[in-house]
Amino acid sequence: MKNIYSNIYPFNKEILKKTVKLLTEGGIAALPTETVYGLAGNAYSRKAVKKIFKLKKRPKSNPLIVHYKNKKSASGDVIFNKFFYFLYKKYCPGPITFILKKKSKSKIVDNVTAKLNTVAIRFPSHKVIKSILKSTNFPLAMPSANLSSRLSPVEALDVFDDFKKRINVIIDGGNSKFGIESTVIDLTEKPKILRPGIISAKEIRKYLKLNLSKNISKIKSPGMLKKHYSPGIPVIFGRRPLKPYHAYIVFGKRYKNTNNCFNLSKNADLKEAAANLYKTMRKIKKKGFKKIVISKIPKSGLGIAINDRLTKASK
Ligand code: TXA
Ligand code: MG
Repeated sequence: MKNIYSNIYPFNKEILKKTVKLLTEGGIAALPTETVYGLAGNAYSRKAVKKIFKLKKRPKSNPLIVHYKNKKSASGDVIFNKFFYFLYKKYCPGPITFILKKKSKSKIVDNVTAKLNTVAIRFPSHKVIKSILKSTNFPLAMPSANLSSRLSPVEALDVFDDFKKRINVIIDGGNSKFGIESTVIDLTEKPKILRPGIISAKEIRKYLKLNLSKNISKIKSPGMLKKHYSPGIPVIFGRRPLKPYHAYIVFGKRYKNTNNCFNLSKNADLKEAAANLYKTMRKIKKKGFKKIVISKIPKSGLGIAINDRLTKASK
């Protein structure tokens, strides 16, 4: 029988070599990271970056994150500062993205940054993306591997759902450990969270011993305001549904899983809830429900990021 998933590969030396060659020649590959799967291309190649935008149907005004193997490899492209050094030491490699000023001699092509003079950089920790970054001599521009405005993928099959065979290589790296995207923090001025994520604002504030900026007058991250993280059916916050075609997403000990009730974490563990969030929404859509109703999820720590994604999904 023909294998319909013939572009999904397990990770081994052979696929490492094939992927590095593909990326070096300006091609695109979908790769696992510890947050969500990404759609990777050479951040120094205008042609490769153009392909990423086209595949995702992403507005050109929404800049991409550039992924590096370590601090040294990013030093030619961005201007580091003391906040960066502190946070890098504590959290990298890991689920945090830094916005820094771009160096004038930076090799990052301007379609990566939507012509901004800043760059989002990240140092992922998943072993697959780490080995690929170690084997290339360029960084990878890599947005989440989903069609623009849709849910981020947390396993190889999710990527296949959105792109089918339009990507030559999808590497299967198992379920993403965290299941939602990295925290994005702007370090070009007083540190400010642009996208809540795995590492909470509270934790960063404590560590830096500094209040983070709450200035919302300047919109620095164009892609962050629009509808996003949509499962493709309406999402609303509310109470238990009465209609059988509604699915209910809940959190905590009070709720049992039934055929239309999906508990993100029976242990009321926000980390577990984050890891289950996109997976659960995809499952609900596939089961044919017409609407998702969400019960309250605590608005503290990682709950802030979960609520952020759900609020955007409900727009
Ligand atoms: O966990 C993650 O961050 C995943 C994995 C694949 O690394 N990537 C990811 O990329 O979520 P993406 O493209 O889906 O989201 C990147 C976010 C966007 O909201 C974008 O607007 C923002 O980062 N961004 C990128 N460059 C920026 C810049 N120079 N200034 C402000 N925001 C920026
Ligand atoms: Mg995304």
